Amino acid sequence: MSTAQMRLIGTDPEQWAEIAYRDESLVTQLDGHLTADQAAESVTGVPTSSSTTPVTVVGMIEALDVEDGHTVLEIGTGTGYSAALMCHRLGEDNVTTTEVDPGVAARADAALETAGYSTWTMTGDGLLGHPRRAPYDRVIATCAVRRIPHTWVRQTKPGGIVLATVAPGSWAYGTGLAKVTVNGDGTAEGRIIGESSFMQARSQAAAPLAGDLSARAAYADSEREAKVAPTLLEEWMPAFLAQLATPGAQLVRATREDGASLRYVFDADRESFAAFIEKGSGWTVRQGGPAALWDDIEQALIAWQDAGRPDVSATRLRVTPRSHTYWIGDTPALRWEHRLV
Ligand SMILES: C[S@@+](CC[C@H](N)C(=O)[O-])C[C@H]1O[C@@H](n2cnc3c(N)ncnc32)[C@H](O)[C@@H]1O
Repeated sequence: MSTAQMRLIGTDPEQWAEIAYRDESLVTQLDGHLTADQAAESVTGVPTSSSTTPVTVVGMIEALDVEDGHTVLEIGTGTGYSAALMCHRLGEDNVTTTEVDPGVAARADAALETAGYSTWTMTGDGLLGHPRRAPYDRVIATCAVRRIPHTWVRQTKPGGIVLATVAPGSWAYGTGLAKVTVNGDGTAEGRIIGESSFMQARSQAAAPLAGDLSARAAYADSEREAKVAPTLLEEWMPAFLAQLATPGAQLVRATREDGASLRYVFDADRESFAAFIEKGSGWTVRQGGPAALWDDIEQALIAWQDAGRPDVSATRLRVTPRSHTYWIGDTPALRWEHRLV
């Protein structure tokens, strides 16, 4: 999990306005509790709440295709910035926003009141939506989810839209903005409309891998030369493909004492790993456990290269109560069904 720095800024309203409209994400909470007013100086931690960059927020609201009179459910109130823009566009009574963190929700509610919007700021797990005000015309999430919760589909009117960043493997990058239209039969269909990166919904964030990496990769069942370098996973689309091919897997980078570059892909739930070491101009991969993680990822990467390296927006998505199916074109190796049961 990457860390960030946060510091208290002054109280001068002009400075605040200048900072608020900068095209930067502003971290407003670290480690699930620390806010800038509690820290005497600059502090470091894992960001757990922020004000998203204005360009991203406005771009997402545009992608939501709202019309006068529409009702919207937002998941991830944060500072209330995006909720305020939607209140301005649609009217305060048409916007419901949910925030999992009570302190963050209380601050956002007060800020929205100050801005003149008595909107519906609800505290709770937004993965459950907010059934009491459903159905909505639009659902928008400003935190990333491993999959679109079916509650959101159920709480959206037929023809309505759900817009959310999907991170099938909880990676911080290699994630896509899914826009799906809800059908009348409990399904939804659409595509990934672009790259998008948000902090993970709290209950879905992957726990960092504990312990000795070499112990996790001690017993290999096979060893071979990798056909594709694991460093490709540092690019956005290959990282997205890796998450589609092995949704439970995590990528870990390390350096050995002698300076050699190491890469691992671990799937803790399936007790499987792929461990890479650079050899000459290529990489050797050792795989262990019941799931041959690199075989699956490599197959997807090669099929994607053969298909001319399409970007994330070539990815289609169908959501049902039981599954998410992603596909790119009609190549079987670029089709993945993630089943709940
Ligand atoms: C990037 S911030 C939101 C940005 C905000 N909408 C804005 O206008 O800038 C993500 C927020 O999602 C919240 N969050 C995380 N998991 C959540 C969940 N399961 N339900 C509701 N909110 C959640 C976090 O506490 C955090 O405040």
